[in-house]
Amino acid sequence: MTIDHPNFGNIADDRLIIFDTTLRDGEQSPGFSMNLAEKLRMAEALAELGVDVIEAGFPIASEGDYESVRAIAQSIQGPVICGLARSGRADILRAAEAVAPAERRRIHTFISTSPLHMKYKLRMEPEAVLAAVADSVALARQHTDDVEWSAEDGSRTEPEFLCRCVEAAIRAGATTINIPDTVGYALPQDMARLFTMVRERVPGAEKVIFSAHNHNDLGLAVANTIASVNAGARQVECTINGIGERAGNAALEEIVMAIRTRPDSVPARPQVATENILRTSRLLSTITGFDVQPNKAIVGRNAFAHESGIHQDGVLKNAATYEIMTPESVGWTKSSLVMGKHSGRAAFRDKLRAMGYGDLGENQLNDAFRRFKDLADRKKVVYDEDIMALVDDEVMRDHDRIRFVSLDVHAGSKAKPSAVLELEIDGVTRAATATGDGPVDATFIAIRKLFQHEATLRLYSVGAITEGTDAQARVTVRLEEEGKMVDGQGADTDTIVASARAYVHALNKLLVKRTRTEPAALSA
Ligand code: KIV
Ligand code: ZN
Repeated sequence: MTIDHPNFGNIADDRLIIFDTTLRDGEQSPGFSMNLAEKLRMAEALAELGVDVIEAGFPIASEGDYESVRAIAQSIQGPVICGLARSGRADILRAAEAVAPAERRRIHTFISTSPLHMKYKLRMEPEAVLAAVADSVALARQHTDDVEWSAEDGSRTEPEFLCRCVEAAIRAGATTINIPDTVGYALPQDMARLFTMVRERVPGAEKVIFSAHNHNDLGLAVANTIASVNAGARQVECTINGIGERAGNAALEEIVMAIRTRPDSVPARPQVATENILRTSRLLSTITGFDVQPNKAIVGRNAFAHESGIHQDGVLKNAATYEIMTPESVGWTKSSLVMGKHSGRAAFRDKLRAMGYGDLGENQLNDAFRRFKDLADRKKVVYDEDIMALVDDEVMRDHDRIRFVSLDVHAGSKAKPSAVLELEIDGVTRAATATGDGPVDATFIAIRKLFQHEATLRLYSVGAITEGTDAQARVTVRLEEEGKMVDGQGADTDTIVASARAYVHALNKLLVKRTRTEPAALSA
């Protein structure tokens, strides 16, 4: 039996739609916010990964959200571009406007249906919620044929009422029905029962796609998603690296690889280019500054590392002894030596193309090449990861108003640490000298002298991009100003330079946030 869907046509019974919400549910969690250029970059990577739907944001939430959904709708080809909306008219019209430029678009509208949420959050009677379901879906349908409706807190909703709401949404024209476990409370058997019940009881259920959206508060988001698919869901909502509210959402890479690895136990097939998984995961880490933990399934540094002698011996004799999927199937390759310091620009450009950075402009390529040469002078071995970090560092900063120029630091156990820093602010290079409690402190004080601001440093963290004492450091700096939080990243073989870059990056992000409400005032 097939479903005729406005964006996907005749969908085979075993087709699994991958709905990625990294840029919406993922991005809305603290510390994971991205700017427009970063969201576009991420959306391109998701399209290359082959996701079916990109939930690009919540357009009514802010001007920035609206702009990024619209920019993604304008430029990303392939996936359906989706905007989120509550049930109100203003939300739906804003979402409709934001996704309008997309070749294939969707409006996703939701309202809470559980007794707890209706009483305390919405302060609405169930009958009013039911009316809002029908009205919101009908309004969304006036703007696009592809409408998804979600029952927020669906897993804690009275079954009877949930069925009435789902029926109302289908009658009003919803093409996808999502039943989220919003608070990550359900167990796999609960989700299986829920989908089976709704699909059996609701008239018209056979005409729509059912969707699973699970949060990870009990560490069960992926298990609940697989259980939902086994009970008939044919869309899964997920995020790269499992980022999302609180403990996160179901991780895309885990769902896809669980199904690829166990097709005998799951009756649906995703169409994802799995060999792009690692690259997409790393791009997200670079953009947000949050690495996944080493033992994270599929994309963690140790996911395919075999430490014990017995395991190593087994893998050498036959990899299948301890590997249930090949590392290559998700994009792991042996870290390859890129090129030496004598490599030319053409070879560098080829390398970037092979790594998925084929779309760099001439200026970006020149800047990245200059930094590559500089790095190759300082570092014995330049790995793919190093190239990725420096390109992301350089390219993502294309529109920055403040730029790092140079840093000279003196530190040690005797003299008070000092820093001489040069920054380019709005095209003008300025220098400042400062002393501090340590070299990082001195550098940050110098930045404050050059660009005065009231932001408070909330987080400073350092990680190594590759192994060895000459590895590049990746630094994350979190700044807060008037309740707005931004994260900046910087990479360099010199930890203090990486720190300065990260701080400057965070300041640039803060400027973007400021300009949305007030004109930015740069001072020196
Ligand atoms: O978790 C949730 O319920 C959501 C909805 C907006 C779909 O994210
Ligand atoms: Zn959610």
